[in-house]
Amino acid sequence: MAITNDIIKNKYSESTVKIVKIFTDNEISLMRDLYEELPLTINNIEQKTLKKQWIQNYKKELDIVYHNRIMEVLNDFQMDNLKDKHGDDIYGLFQESFKPLPLHADTGFNLDNKTYKQLLTPLSGFGETIIFKNRWYGESTTFTVDEEELEFIPGTNKNKRSNKHIIKSKKFDQIIHKKFLNHIDINNLEGLEIDTIYKWKIGETLIFDRTHLHSSSSNLNNKKLGLVTFTKI
Ligand SMILES: [Fe+2]
Repeated sequence: MAITNDIIKNKYSESTVKIVKIFTDNEISLMRDLYEELPLTINNIEQKTLKKQWIQNYKKELDIVYHNRIMEVLNDFQMDNLKDKHGDDIYGLFQESFKPLPLHADTGFNLDNKTYKQLLTPLSGFGETIIFKNRWYGESTTFTVDEEELEFIPGTNKNKRSNKHIIKSKKFDQIIHKKFLNHIDINNLEGLEIDTIYKWKIGETLIFDRTHLHSSSSNLNNKKLGLVTFTKI
């Protein structure tokens, strides 16, 4: 599939970043309980992140609530978080992070898919996520200006590396860098424009297009726990 076609089909579904309240405090608390129950999927030592897939049928009622509430805000969508061993959709990825995530885009690994929205539901109090206006239409990528890291060859379904997001003539704001993004080389932010600085709040869900470049903020109180769900249409 030519990249231009992918740009067109993904642009069709683009919209502004939204913050919605679709889960009750009790449902958030049930999601936290589910996180405790689920088996560990990934312990990414380099990123200092623990990941657990939301596998269906651990708490069937919660599965239904989660799916229906997303349906209310997105109208039509399909889950795009891999499948479990029975071929059923995984509903998302719980991520417990002890270190801020780098600059990336979660556009997926199949350019034939029409990627849609991603949802971030905070399950712990303090956290910040930075969404940039800039977009990416290739596969899921981590952005870097580090020459050595650019050489990295990812395995299947792992983020590629790229510096193609850089717009050389546009320096990034030094004050915002220092306040929110000091875990990222400021040269890696050249040409980027902030869309939203989202301060995590329990009870809210952040919804944004999967084509948006984004990263964690550098501000992290020991650790944070969030639920991320990827969708396609
Ligand atoms: Fe992400």
